[in-house]
Amino acid sequence: MIPHIRTALPGPKAKALIDRDAIVVSPSYTRSYPLVIERGSGAVVEDVDGNVFLDCTAGIAVNSTGHSHPEVVKAILEQAQRFVHMSGTDFYYEPQVRLAEELAAVAPIDGGVRSFFGNSGTEAVEACIKLIIAFLGAFHGRTMGSLALTASKTIQRRGFGPMMPGVYHAPYPDCYRCPLGLKAENCAAECLEYLEHQLFLHLVSPEEVAAIVVEPIQGEGGYIVAPDQFLERLRELTKSHGILLVADEVQSGMGRTGKMFAIEHTGVRPDMIAIAKGIASGMPLGIAVARAGLMTWPPGAHASTFGGNPVSCAAALATLKLLKERLVANAAEVGSHLMAGLKSLAATHPLIGDVRGRGLMIGVELVRDRRTKERASEERDAAVAAAFARGLLLLGAGKNAIRFSPPLVLTREQADTAVRIFDEALSEVEKTRH
Ligand SMILES: Cc1ncc(COP(=O)(O)O)c(C=O)c1O
Repeated sequence: MIPHIRTALPGPKAKALIDRDAIVVSPSYTRSYPLVIERGSGAVVEDVDGNVFLDCTAGIAVNSTGHSHPEVVKAILEQAQRFVHMSGTDFYYEPQVRLAEELAAVAPIDGGVRSFFGNSGTEAVEACIKLIIAFLGAFHGRTMGSLALTASKTIQRRGFGPMMPGVYHAPYPDCYRCPLGLKAENCAAECLEYLEHQLFLHLVSPEEVAAIVVEPIQGEGGYIVAPDQFLERLRELTKSHGILLVADEVQSGMGRTGKMFAIEHTGVRPDMIAIAKGIASGMPLGIAVARAGLMTWPPGAHASTFGGNPVSCAAALATLKLLKERLVANAAEVGSHLMAGLKSLAATHPLIGDVRGRGLMIGVELVRDRRTKERASEERDAAVAAAFARGLLLLGAGKNAIRFSPPLVLTREQADTAVRIFDEALSEVEKTRH
């Protein structure tokens, strides 16, 4: 039976480990609830006390092929037995080259394509930046370059200034609650209007801007989907000023939205794409994929000892194969089923303000009042906790949204289970709050 909760949560073994963690591990980690994993398979996770959970987090949208997919594990083992590291920056090995070839074949970038290999999303973004515009609400990472682009929560920046200079922020088209107070129809146009007629007029002239970095769907910001016309017009605007367009697909890429890259839901062809999270099913890997004509930096200009680790590359190659064979299509199909189920809950749960997303990247925004859209942040946290108590793993995103980012192997039946438990969790929160 999935899920199956046998003990109080956390159970005794989980509690013992959490107590040890509290003494020696950095307190900067944002744990929402006390899950201590023992093993995982597909979309199912077992904790150290034998409690079984349905995982709609995929370890923050990472385990794209599900926990420990046998083909990925086999690829990791085979590669680890051959060699674990040789530094792809100074030497050559086939898995890195083959992965770059495969990415060049699937990346929606015009012309020849090259890849730079790092270890994480933030490193993928670092490799893309110099003088930049990013968007309010954006999350691009926490290293000092990418942190200057991040404008999601002040806690991520507080006390770390000064930031890298030369970064400006523009409003992101969150059409459910337009930052400029507009109706959805005008939101995208007006956000661009701000860029063109405020930012370019008062703060930075467009010929000085190297690149605009955008998440096609804001992840940490709340699973907010930019309207197609926003990305299309952003592409026109960047082209007209000779500005590069960088798509941060660290969270939205690798099949999660039902296409290999979220930007492919539009006709937009970016100049660079930042990839990480889902690319290697949990092995650390971050990649900056760029038009070949752009990636012309000389030897020594940029590199990382562990970047493009061969075991990570082998896991990525196995992941790509599974994504192409079945999982991108599964994300589209099961994603629309899950979306329909979650939308249907809005009829009985006044807390639900908005359900949005693409494929298996779905956000549910909770509000105290549908008319005023007052953010139900505490209720959101309570709903995540209530789902956990019933065996469903979820994560928050933004101030008051819940993200559904399960492994892409999720079945329709598992999606139904997730909807059923989320329904119960919302009922509990609504009962205790009113
Ligand atoms: C869109 C986006 N970019 C960059 C990052 C940073 O990735 P990492 O945590 O691997 O450094 C994240 C992480 O959540 C992300 O969602």
